[in-house]
Amino acid sequence: MPAPDTRLWSIDTPNTSYVVAVDDHDRLRGLHWGPRLSAEQALALLELPESPFRPVIGREPRYDLSTGSAFQYGHNGLQVRFADGTRDLELAFTEAVEGDGALAFVFTDRHYPLEVRTRYRTRPDSDVIERTLELRNRGTEPIEVVRADSATWVVPGLDEPRLSQLHGEWGAETQLTRTTIPYGETVIGSRRGVTGHQSNPWVAIDDGAATETAGPVWSTALAWSGTWRITVEKGPTGSVTVSAGFGHDPIAIRLDGGATLETPVAAGLHTAHGFAGAASAWHDYALAHVLPHPGEVRPVLYNSWEATEFDFTAEDQMRLADRAAAMGCELFVMDDGWFGARVNDRAGLGDWTPNPDRFPDGLGPLIKHVHGLGMRFGIWVEPEMVNPDSDLYRAHPDWVYHQPHRRRSEVRQQLVLNLARPDVADHIHARLDELLSGNEIDFVKWDMNRPFTEAGWPGNDDPDRLWFDHTRNLYAILDRLRADHPHLRIESCSSGGGRVDFGILRRTDQVWTSDNTDAVDRIAIQDGFAQVYPARVMGAWVTDSPNPLTRREVPLDFRFHVAMAGVLAVGGDLRIWSDDEQARGAELVADYKRVRPTVQLGRRRPLRAGNVTGVQYDRGDTTVVLAWRRARDFAYPDPLLKLHVDPDARYREVRTGRVHHGAILASHGLDLGLTPADYASAMIELTREP
Ligand code: GLA
Repeated sequence: MPAPDTRLWSIDTPNTSYVVAVDDHDRLRGLHWGPRLSAEQALALLELPESPFRPVIGREPRYDLSTGSAFQYGHNGLQVRFADGTRDLELAFTEAVEGDGALAFVFTDRHYPLEVRTRYRTRPDSDVIERTLELRNRGTEPIEVVRADSATWVVPGLDEPRLSQLHGEWGAETQLTRTTIPYGETVIGSRRGVTGHQSNPWVAIDDGAATETAGPVWSTALAWSGTWRITVEKGPTGSVTVSAGFGHDPIAIRLDGGATLETPVAAGLHTAHGFAGAASAWHDYALAHVLPHPGEVRPVLYNSWEATEFDFTAEDQMRLADRAAAMGCELFVMDDGWFGARVNDRAGLGDWTPNPDRFPDGLGPLIKHVHGLGMRFGIWVEPEMVNPDSDLYRAHPDWVYHQPHRRRSEVRQQLVLNLARPDVADHIHARLDELLSGNEIDFVKWDMNRPFTEAGWPGNDDPDRLWFDHTRNLYAILDRLRADHPHLRIESCSSGGGRVDFGILRRTDQVWTSDNTDAVDRIAIQDGFAQVYPARVMGAWVTDSPNPLTRREVPLDFRFHVAMAGVLAVGGDLRIWSDDEQARGAELVADYKRVRPTVQLGRRRPLRAGNVTGVQYDRGDTTVVLAWRRARDFAYPDPLLKLHVDPDARYREVRTGRVHHGAILASHGLDLGLTPADYASAMIELTREP
């Protein structure tokens, strides 16, 4: 809401305000990001010295007369180069436009025909503010956009600013780490063409003292699945800005005369309720405003990859499906190895027709069998890729990213198709549409198993655009397939969790969290994942013991209880599970189905007591506690686990009927009744007594 006679606006959410002002130099400055302010309080911000507030849009002051501060050379989230070589912006404020839940500030360059529009969008039920940037070339000559960050957020002064981030690698995604922010710029991002395992496009800033349940936290997440960077900068006076955008150094994008460049959403969130408060605000936002089918709970899935890898027949898939159905699985997904010459990872990618030896009568008989068992049918694809040993590559060797006179680096014997090319994007769409139209496929696991290398597009005079257009065309194909096949549900996978972000989640239904299915390793992966993304999208398989990747042996209940904290799935070789394991698995699947709406759609709170960790999910009157302990130390008894419950209420344990006082659960904790053995775990469902 604009304040009268000033150029100050307060972007209000239910609990927060983000206050910006256009200053005398026409720079948009961030004045406040924190608890909600009244109009009068927001106006008082204008009386504060402005030096701590770096501009979020506009030219850096060369010498700031008003404050006496010297030159500032902070990073600049918006950088362009005009056709005559000028590499400097002088933006004049034109107007603020309000409407449709959004507030946009329009600036135009004082000399060049460039219009810059920053847009803030809020929603009545969320403290998340979405920011985008739009650049419009109103002239005829091209403008080179060197950097166009979607948002630069200004965090108010903090004594010991701390950065939380999610780093990782294949098999160890979303590892949460918190570190003191050094002076200067800290940059995280991806140059791989995909979101990446190494960093997730999310950060949180706090004053070094926030806990899970209390303290102010400022957080941002970028909704983009290509290359990206988030720059956290601590200035000489300790002020912190967080700038998030697509692209990476040193690629630039050309904005032709008449063209518009719209950036992805960078979402910002402030909360006073600690890290778990921030996480649950992100979850609510994802469930209400990002996911395509928000209220829907995900089915229990079976995936055949770890059971068979490439070595299977249609008959093997049917036997697995029989076992999966008997255990209560609701969706059977056939993974890699069903198409072209794809009997190992050396051939066939790109040829999306059933392998004639394995499926002489096509996919029909298998799909019919799966549907006959009462399960939905899903299939694995990796559409952005090609094996050099494939009919597609033999026909179109120029369809992959490559540089003239340079070798084409293969990763897993595959190359990346140039999806930025409209003809390639059309081809991929047509093949998938054919597959989905000709077969009753309910679910697609869309994989992307290697990063870009030699990312060139010979013959194109603006080749850097491939970094942007690849992702845009991917989004367009997904959107079109979803529109034309409304029953279709999609899982995003990229060698496990390499493509998890709010951009892909806008058009998919769940993600494959990690190829590492070891339940012990998963606890940390899932905990990091849950800082941003809800359990409703977090695919979690129960696989064999010893785990194929880590060789760790973990009991079945522990494996189930860890996977039940997300979208439970089974991915073991059910042909070798004993009858007891099958029967216990079926019981645990049934338990999960009962608590699933609470887990997938409820509020998550992390729990910890000594060496016991867990999560609590709440929805309505139901509380679900999942807890795990690797090993007992020194024969000490297991600690009680304190819950986040109403001390004035009573809670009944669904399985035993035992009634607990909320006051005791909150101040002393719940006895989990864990066995003394290693890898003990529990799932306890509580109902609040009326
Ligand atoms: C990737 C995925 C796995 C599996 C294989 C198949 O690694 O992450 O889950 O689908 O590809 O090749």
